[in-house]
Amino acid sequence: MASEYLPISELIKSRRSIRKFTSEPIDDAMIDQILTAGIWAPSGKNNQPWKFAVIKSEALRKLLAGLTHYTKIIENAPCCIAVFLDHNLSYDRTKDCQAIGACIQNMLLVIHDMGLGAVWLGEILRNKEKVAELLNPESSGLNAPSNLELMAVVALGHPAEKGGKGKRKALDEVMFLRR
Ligand SMILES: Cc1cc2nc3c(=O)[nH]c(=O)nc-3n(C[C@H](O)[C@H](O)[C@H](O)COP(=O)(O)O)c2cc1C
Repeated sequence: MASEYLPISELIKSRRSIRKFTSEPIDDAMIDQILTAGIWAPSGKNNQPWKFAVIKSEALRKLLAGLTHYTKIIENAPCCIAVFLDHNLSYDRTKDCQAIGACIQNMLLVIHDMGLGAVWLGEILRNKEKVAELLNPESSGLNAPSNLELMAVVALGHPAEKGGKGKRKALDEVMFLRR
């Protein structure tokens, strides 16, 4: 683990989006560890509204890559995790989206803790119907029935770049009340 001794506050601050990966594959035990972190996120009424598709096949990644401006990232990532909201489990769209965000952040942190890198891809949402179609049982063998709405794709792998320095607003710019 790259950040074995990092306290959680440092782990959070040192995570950066990684957009270049080596060709080294990610094994299934690692993917299970990442998804496990995801499903331990909190959710309203503990409804756990997430569903995942794990895409490692080069052929399928090529098709997925064609549905976003960030083609190269997906083509070069040895693994992508598509995160869906399951409408059959949804009870409040805002809260469900918040839960999915927490789930994705949990995964990003564990990925970073494992010494891997990842980026949360949202731009691909403009083609979310096409992504769901691509991942449907008939075209790919994966199961993404129509009750699933794409929320994000996380591209991950062994980092082939150092993340940027990271930049955030000062606390006094974002906090408007303390009394
Ligand atoms: C909802 C969301 C959507 C994002 N979509 C993309 C994307 O489509 N492409 C991309 O390269 N990065 C995307 N990012 C990553 C952000 O650009 C990145 O998190 C931000 O610039 C801060 O950098 P850092 O993650 O290195 O701290 C997205 C992040 C979030 C949370």
